[in-house]
Amino acid sequence: MTSAPGRTIDETRVSSILDREEAAYRARTPRSAALHARARQAMPLGVASSFQTYDPYPLFMTDARGSRIWDADGNEYVDFDMAFGVLAAGHSHPLLAEALQRRVANGTCYTFPTEDGVALAEEIKLRFGTDLVRFSNSGTEATMDAIRVARGFTGRSKVLKFEGGYHGHHDDVLISIQPARDAMGPIEAPNSVPATAGMPASRLTETVIAPFNQPELVADILDRHRGEIAAIIVEPVQFNIGVVPPSEGFLARLRELATEHGAVLIFDEVKTGVVIAYGGATEYYGVQPDLICLAKSIGGGIPIGAFTGRGEVMRAIEQVPDHGASGIGMEHSTLAGGATRVAHLGTFNGNPLSMTAGLVTLTQILTRDAYPRLHELAERLTTGCQAVIDEFDLPGYAINVGPKGCVMFTPQRVTNYRDLIGLDGDLWAASFFYLANRGMLLPPGADDQWTLSVQHTDEEIDRYIATFRAFAVELTG
Ligand SMILES: Cc1ncc(COP(=O)(O)O)c(C=O)c1O
Repeated sequence: MTSAPGRTIDETRVSSILDREEAAYRARTPRSAALHARARQAMPLGVASSFQTYDPYPLFMTDARGSRIWDADGNEYVDFDMAFGVLAAGHSHPLLAEALQRRVANGTCYTFPTEDGVALAEEIKLRFGTDLVRFSNSGTEATMDAIRVARGFTGRSKVLKFEGGYHGHHDDVLISIQPARDAMGPIEAPNSVPATAGMPASRLTETVIAPFNQPELVADILDRHRGEIAAIIVEPVQFNIGVVPPSEGFLARLRELATEHGAVLIFDEVKTGVVIAYGGATEYYGVQPDLICLAKSIGGGIPIGAFTGRGEVMRAIEQVPDHGASGIGMEHSTLAGGATRVAHLGTFNGNPLSMTAGLVTLTQILTRDAYPRLHELAERLTTGCQAVIDEFDLPGYAINVGPKGCVMFTPQRVTNYRDLIGLDGDLWAASFFYLANRGMLLPPGADDQWTLSVQHTDEEIDRYIATFRAFAVELTG
C-alpha cells in the first residue's frame, strides 16, 4: 500500500464527470426528486435528520434485503452504506426478521423489563469485559448519559473531546466536529467551536478540545485543566472524518492519563462496537476504558443505544460517591448539589423490540465466528481499491479497520482532523455518483465510510472494485 501523494487530477475532467454523473442520477431517480420536493413542504430540508440530505436530493428508499437496497424508482444497489454503519448484520437478516415477527405479534412496548433485556446486558458485559449495562435508544443518548454518569461519579463538570470527533447531537459534544480552519485555534489549545446554531455559550466552556493522536498535547491540555475534567470521550477510530485509526499507543496513553487525572475514560463505540471486532475497539486495541457507548449495529437495524462499564462508575446511577472522600483526586465538586444519584431515564429504554433485536443480532448473527469473514471481505475491498489507486496513481489511499473503510481522497495520510482539510470533495462526489449510477451505494458524505455486513459477497466486492477502476480509467485517460 502506498501513501505517495499521487498525480494531480485535472479539475475540469473531475467536474465534467461530476456534472454528467449528477445528470444521470437525476434521470434515473425522478420519483426520489418528486418525493423530496413533496417532503420539503412537510419537513425542514425534506428529511427527518439533517444527515440524510445531500445535493441534488437524497434517494428515497422502499425496500432492502441482505446486502441490497432499492430506491423509489426501483433501482437496485449493492448497499455499502448500510445505514451509516448500523447493519453489520445486513438488512433484515432472516433470523432477525423471524424473531421480530414473533415479537411484534406479542407487544412492542411494555415499559416493564424483559428477560431478553437481561440476556442482552449479559452478552454485552461478556463482549466488552464490563460489569453493568444500561440501555437507551440511540448513540446520542448513550454518550449523553455516559457523560452525566461520569460527572456524577467524579463531581466535576468538564469533558475533554477530540477535534473532528462526532458523538451525537447533544450540546456537550456538538462542538468542534469539523470546525473551519480560521476558527479552530492553535493545535496546542484548540478552540471549542459550536457545530450548530442554538448552542448556549455556557456549554462551550464545559467542553475542552484536544487533537487526536497527539498524546503529549493531550497531556498538556489535561494539566491545564487539572481537577476539572470529568470525562475524556474518544471514538477509538475516528470514523466521522473518513477512517482515522489511533496511532500506536495513543489509546493506552489516554488510559494512563485518565487514571492519572481521575477522569472517566469513555470509548464511544457507536460505530466500532461489535463491528470491528466481537468486543469492539476495546478488544481490538486491548485498552479497557471506564465506560463504553454502543448503538447502531448492536440492534441489527432496530433503534437502540447502550452504555456499559466498570461497576464502580455505573453505580453512580444508584448512588454517587461521596465527593468529599472518594479518593479519586477531585479538588472540589463543580456540580449543582443535592441529588445523590445520576438520573438515567427513558420511556423506550429496554423496549422489547430493541432487546429482542439486540439479543438475536449479537447471539445468533454477529457471533465470534462472523468476524474473520467480515475482515476478509474488507481486506479484499481495500486491497482492490488500493491496487486501482496505485495503477492510476490517484491522489489518495484506501484504508479500513475491520469491515469499515473508504478511499481517502487526501494528498497525505490523515492522522487527525487538521490533515483532512486537504480532502478533494469534488473528486469524492464524482466517485460517489459514478458508483451510485452503476448500482454501488456509498454513504453520501466524503467524511463517512463503507460498512460491510455478513451478507455481502466476494462477487459484490469485485463489482465495486471493477466499477472504481472504470472511474479511474475515465479520470486519468
Ligand atoms: C461515533 C458516534 N457516536 C455517536 C453517534 C450518534 O448516534 P445516533 O445517531 O444513534 O444518535 C454517532 C452517529 O453517527 C457516531 O458515529
